[in-house]
Amino acid sequence: MLTFNIVSLMPQMFEILKMDGVVSRALNEQKLKLDLWNPRDFVLDAHNTIDDRPYGGGPGMVMMIEPLVDTLEEIQKSLAKANKGNSKVIYLSPKGQTLSHKKSLELSKEKNLILISGRYEGIDQRFIDQYVDEEISIGDFVTTGGELPAMVLVDAVSRLIPGVLNKAESYQEDSFFEGLLDHCHYTRPEIFKDLKVPEVLLSGDHKKIAKWRKKNALLETFKKRPDLINNRELTIEESRLLQEALKEQEQDLNKRK
Ligand SMILES: C[S@@+](CC[C@H](N)C(=O)[O-])C[C@H]1O[C@@H](n2cnc3c(N)ncnc32)[C@H](O)[C@@H]1O
Repeated sequence: MLTFNIVSLMPQMFEILKMDGVVSRALNEQKLKLDLWNPRDFVLDAHNTIDDRPYGGGPGMVMMIEPLVDTLEEIQKSLAKANKGNSKVIYLSPKGQTLSHKKSLELSKEKNLILISGRYEGIDQRFIDQYVDEEISIGDFVTTGGELPAMVLVDAVSRLIPGVLNKAESYQEDSFFEGLLDHCHYTRPEIFKDLKVPEVLLSGDHKKIAKWRKKNALLETFKKRPDLINNRELTIEESRLLQEALKEQEQDLNKRK
């Protein structure tokens, strides 16, 4: 079982993960665990100070190193007591490597993770240099705190832990699993106004449907994320299917003219 040890000044935000959906079910079934740690609980001064003004001036506040180290030491003590060994320390940060399917899969194999959520202008650099193993970003933008990024990571990693998703929810056909985007999905009704579902999907011919889905996934990826196609060598069969899909798309467009 993977335990996420989350360090946050706003632990109540994580309640949402317990409310509904796949993560909440996995928590109830003890397939994963969330332990929340608030650095405010480890501050000894009367004012509960966890942040201070940045050296050199400028706007905003910076999370201080001491309460973070004290929190980390408490987590490590509790892991040692439970014989859980060492844990990777991850700081959610816009300066980190962007979270990917590959990284999520790698993290889903860990037994413990310590996730540090920053607030304000971020955390004292000395904590990052001395105690953080990895900085992970959820994209090239800035959120007000690390709580939502940590929840994104928990969600993306949890669904890859064996047994968390049931067969119907399986991630093996999702985007990125095979380095491609997912194929398009359709459901009832068969015709909405004059919009029809691709005929092959109604045929019941599983071989044809599988071929259409692969072709459609290749076309979607080619159109929306050509970088993924460039990063992944297509097999001869995949190249052939993509050429076929492009040709069919052109024929379709010509028909509509
Ligand atoms: C307002 S941000 C600080 C941004 C920082 N001054 C910067 O420009 O790089 C506060 C906290 O939100 C989190 N955060 C913001 N954007 C993020 C992102 N894209 N990925 C992961 N964490 C992020 C980090 O934990 C950060 O310490």
